[in-house]
Amino acid sequence: MKFFLDSAKMEEIKEAHATFGIDGVTTNPRHIMTSGKPFLTAIQDIADWVKAEGLSGIDVFPVSVEINPHLDDTEQMVEEAKKIAAISPNFVIKVPATLSGVPAARRLEKEGIRTNVTLVFSPAQAILPAKIGAKFVSPFIGWKEANGEDCKQYIQDIVTIYENYGYLGETEIICAALRTPKQIADCAVAGADIVTAGLDVFKDCMKHAYTTQGIGIFTDAWDHTEGN
Ligand code: E4P
Repeated sequence: MKFFLDSAKMEEIKEAHATFGIDGVTTNPRHIMTSGKPFLTAIQDIADWVKAEGLSGIDVFPVSVEINPHLDDTEQMVEEAKKIAAISPNFVIKVPATLSGVPAARRLEKEGIRTNVTLVFSPAQAILPAKIGAKFVSPFIGWKEANGEDCKQYIQDIVTIYENYGYLGETEIICAALRTPKQIADCAVAGADIVTAGLDVFKDCMKHAYTTQGIGIFTDAWDHTEGN
């Protein structure tokens, strides 16, 4: 399973890469806003870092960058996507899972620009992105579970559909907006390819009260053992 960092903050990207060895980055307009930088500066900084680290190429370290969310015209989406894609060989272009976004992704994929069809909220919405050959599809989990939905079946259904039709691995499933270690585990059990989450969520995966308690028990034993 691949771990992508959901952030546009350079300090978080550097820390996650240095500590956990993340496999890629996903951004969105909200992440760019919270980076405190203008859009082009934020994505150029990520592009420069990826190049300096020797991680060039979508197959090495994909970085998802979203087009202007105001756009709802396929032609305009394609034009904007081409400009963003030209900035870095690592950029995958996020387009929304809408009636204008999916045709834009289809055209971009035909022209060799890799896409991430985002803002997916149902299994049916995840099918066309795979049929048109998107590199990634991003079903959102955290937003739904924050509203009381249990997403285990939703994730499982997308994985099953992709298995049924040979899409699995061709269009990689990025379970997005994950907020808890349990959600990461649910995605892994279902067989999703990738999870994307903030740095704290990945850190939380390695925290458990029993582990802390166990270290206390073993520390005490160590200290009461002769010769230590
Ligand atoms: C991922 O590609 C999405 O942009 C992301 O998971 C949404 O996350 P957010 O709710 O943290 O903005």
